[in-house]
Amino acid sequence: MATVLAIETSCDETAAAVVSETGDPERPWRVRSNTVASQAEIHREWGGVVPELASRQHVRDICGVVERALDDGRASWSELDAVAVTQGPGLVGSLLVGVAFAKGLAAALDLPLVPVHHLAGHIESLVVDNGRLPLPAVVLVVSGGHTNLYEVTGEGHPRRDCRLIGRTRDDAAGEAFDKVAALLGLSYPGGPVIDRVARAGDDAAIDFPVARMTHADRTASASAAPVGIAAERRARRMEFSFSGLKTAVKRHVEKRRAARGDGDLPDAEVADICASFQRAVVRALLDRVLTAARASSARSIGIAGGVSANSRLRADAAAQAAAAGLPLALPTLALATDNAAMIGAAGLRLLRAGVRAPLDLNARASLEF
Ligand code: KG4
Ligand code: ZN
Repeated sequence: MATVLAIETSCDETAAAVVSETGDPERPWRVRSNTVASQAEIHREWGGVVPELASRQHVRDICGVVERALDDGRASWSELDAVAVTQGPGLVGSLLVGVAFAKGLAAALDLPLVPVHHLAGHIESLVVDNGRLPLPAVVLVVSGGHTNLYEVTGEGHPRRDCRLIGRTRDDAAGEAFDKVAALLGLSYPGGPVIDRVARAGDDAAIDFPVARMTHADRTASASAAPVGIAAERRARRMEFSFSGLKTAVKRHVEKRRAARGDGDLPDAEVADICASFQRAVVRALLDRVLTAARASSARSIGIAGGVSANSRLRADAAAQAAAAGLPLALPTLALATDNAAMIGAAGLRLLRAGVRAPLDLNARASLEF
């Protein structure tokens, strides 16, 4: 049974993990350790991730984080069969720290190096926590950088078995959470704060618009163009858009501040805005997920990535999946936001598929699947 050391540094978390194969196809991965050093405190005072500060902090933290992951996992260097690392997408300076470190380890220990796509890691987090997904599955990866919908049809290489069937045409959902929090004067990262503040609010207080796609997608590439009217309608429904919603919240807040004549809105009103905004995001996400699940006769639904930690999304997804008679896979909170356990599990899958990277592997900010 193979064991990997995995490293993830795509954004503002320095993470390492030890993951082993179990031999059980129903629950293939055992997470022996999962260490994360978060930089949220450092970036908070700037209201968002500062790439230069992020890469420097990764350099400071990576040795300690890797040693800690080995200790917690009671793993020795000699027991490792491979080193897995996030190659992209992400902030290139951040990615480079992990990739350079992993290459150094692979060379020093004479181990295979396995390059992992960050979003393949998020998809794999569902298998780590829930076991094998009934296939085909429709999986939404929803984070600060992505809102991607996939149809998963197999258990081999993600490039072959995960097909992108929808994505955002502008902001990612997590980015919308972060931007709305910033304009309400709440702290970074905005998602968890809005989630908490919204609990005290009325989600029907403000009727924010939920984007519906009513015109052809001019940004789609020719090769991805849908064929036939029915297919075209379906494809339009799979697109997400959050910048209109963000602008609607901004206008509402400006209008309310002007009407009050001072800068701050009362806490109860902020809670109503958060709850109403969150309801609109969750509805937009789940509409598409359930439509896609029906269109592709899915046997299960998965939702992964940082925004999958959202309590409203989790509750509504559970209710709607149950109503549709489909099992729902969600990651535990530790595996929802960025971590290396998911990279280790995805790395083991790739190792099985024979994937190895040469030692001149480069980080790629916008890596394709
Ligand atoms: O997957 P992730 O850790 O990093 C990326 O790959 O981007 O996702 C981070 C995003 C941030 O935008 C953060 O605000 C959002 O996930 N997030 C949440 C919650 N927890 C984290 N959004 C809504 N509700 C939450 N509870
Ligand atoms: Zn992520």
